[in-house]
Amino acid sequence: MKNIMKRTHMCGVLTSKNIDESVVLNGWVQKRRNLGGLIFCDLRDKTGIVQIVFNDTIPAELFEKADKLRSEYVVGIKGVVKERQSKNIDLATGEIEVFANELTIYSEAETPPIYIKDDDEVSENLRLKYRYLDLRKGKMQKNLTFRHKIAKVTREFFDSEGFTEVETPILCKPTPEGARDYLVPSRVNKGQFYALPQSPQLFKQLLMVSGTDRYYQIAKCFRDEDLRADRQPEFTQIDLEMSFVEVDDVIEVQEKFMKKLFKEIMNTEIELPLPRFAYKEAMERFGSDKPDTRFGFELVSLNEAVKDSEFMVFANALAAGGDVRGIKIDGGADKFSRKDIDKLQDAIKHFGAKGLAWIKIGESETASSISKFFDTQKMKELTDVFNGKSGDLILIVADKAKVVFDSLGFLRRNIAGKLGLLDDNRYELLWVVDFPLFEYDEETGEYSAMHHPFTSPRLEDIPLLDSKPGEVRANAYDIVLNGVELGGGSIRIHDAKLQKKMFEVLGLSDETVQNKFGFLLEAFRYGTPPHGGLAYGLDRLAMLLSGEHSIREVIAFPKNQAAVDMVSDAPSITSEEQLEELGIRIAIED
Ligand code: AMO
Ligand code: AMP
Repeated sequence: MKNIMKRTHMCGVLTSKNIDESVVLNGWVQKRRNLGGLIFCDLRDKTGIVQIVFNDTIPAELFEKADKLRSEYVVGIKGVVKERQSKNIDLATGEIEVFANELTIYSEAETPPIYIKDDDEVSENLRLKYRYLDLRKGKMQKNLTFRHKIAKVTREFFDSEGFTEVETPILCKPTPEGARDYLVPSRVNKGQFYALPQSPQLFKQLLMVSGTDRYYQIAKCFRDEDLRADRQPEFTQIDLEMSFVEVDDVIEVQEKFMKKLFKEIMNTEIELPLPRFAYKEAMERFGSDKPDTRFGFELVSLNEAVKDSEFMVFANALAAGGDVRGIKIDGGADKFSRKDIDKLQDAIKHFGAKGLAWIKIGESETASSISKFFDTQKMKELTDVFNGKSGDLILIVADKAKVVFDSLGFLRRNIAGKLGLLDDNRYELLWVVDFPLFEYDEETGEYSAMHHPFTSPRLEDIPLLDSKPGEVRANAYDIVLNGVELGGGSIRIHDAKLQKKMFEVLGLSDETVQNKFGFLLEAFRYGTPPHGGLAYGLDRLAMLLSGEHSIREVIAFPKNQAAVDMVSDAPSITSEEQLEELGIRIAIED
């Protein structure tokens, strides 16, 4: 074991202000170059890189030791800061270098399997397997610190607003958030399982019953669902709940939180109040319940314009109660070839779309995939609905409302991406409110809760619960940033009778209800304050604010696409003894 050289500075903070100071640095060797009588070594720690010089004025054995340095050796260096002759403007410390007069090699390193360089293009699985090396990169260290700052501001804010951070259990009963549960077998109670929480939902409601009044938690949540760029099986919520509140009260506190967060983290002022869109408006204008309002291309209804159309595709869609809608891409006519449009048509098949009609408005004539069904006059009427002008491209989908919205919502954002309109430096925050309380499943003919079964209906819609459940609006709200759902919540039901009604509409038997949520319903019998809350995805927040495009970039040790932790290689098979102890037998052999 070597004595530690007591550090005086971090590598990345040295500037010309430190010239002539004697400093001690600890870090990793980024690279070493021997130019004969001169050895240059870039030394790195989490704050950055600084150039170290070993020249012929130092004792020969120190020079020889420096010549042994290789990438990723961990060293301590003492030296004097000098002005650099050839300045490096790309480097924060580029105006200076440190002339070394002492060197301790704490540990040597084998050649690392990945380069420690921000722009190293290597497969993500390799990055994840050697995550501890990947995290040495400046960008990754910055992301970790950035996330830490968000958590810090969060704690400061909620503390100042009278919220208490309370930890809720990880080993618990299944949570009703709609994803699959991760189960943990119990040794003590063989044959029984805990579920990992999909969210602290049930416990935070119990905390309201217990009089905690305002609760928050930076909480780990677990959901066994298909992975995407903005989803992980294990993720973190900023979760909160408040007593004696209505929708506006929750939103007001959250807007204050967003204002503080953007000010302190991004040095950006956001205007309050944030825009609010009713769910219906969001769908009709943007084809999405998480609209990205950084660009136009809003949806336009053609139902009126094509109501007498002879084009069977449009006529049939309307006759079946569906919709004909389109978007106009300004100046898009010569940016999208027929081949490009065919690709877009293929992409929306995923949402159930059966076709994509297009119109390219020209100076003198208009080209269209549906020109044989619309004469010049009719075509003009169609393009007028969009205020179309020469050079514009119009894309139209006719189908069930959901297919039309999903397809056009996707096309809007996809095309904006292709045209470079998704500006990462703009922050369009908004609320979507008045969600439907239920979602109707055409296949099963059943209703399910759009949010979760504890979300309350709007007071004036309660009479519709029996007659038209599909039209009941919820006291639910989502906060959306640049087209990504950042968080969501609701005012809960605190009335036993209404809760019973809700379970009835959902087709849940008394027995199921008792089994799943009996403990919460029992708690509600002993005096429950009206309450509501919300949860943000901390990973998504950190991703968007740091300009990343995947939440894996802001999670220290994320799972890969196959839900595997590549560092420790989990999940893995376990020993016979352990299974025996748990009373578990594996039925599937691979
Ligand atoms: P919800 O299910 O909408 O609500 O989750 C809240 C927020 O958590 C984030 N999120 C995720 N982030 C990463 N990976 C995932 N797999 C994932 N799933 C969700 C999203 C989402 O907006 N208990 C309720 C909140 C409430 O009603 O108070 C809940 O969990 O950013
Ligand atoms: P067709 O008569 O099949 O050649 O179709 C003419 C155009 O209508 C093509 O561009 C199709 O992609 C388009 N189309 C077909 N079905 C739909 C639909 N459901 N919505 C919008 N356009 C459609």
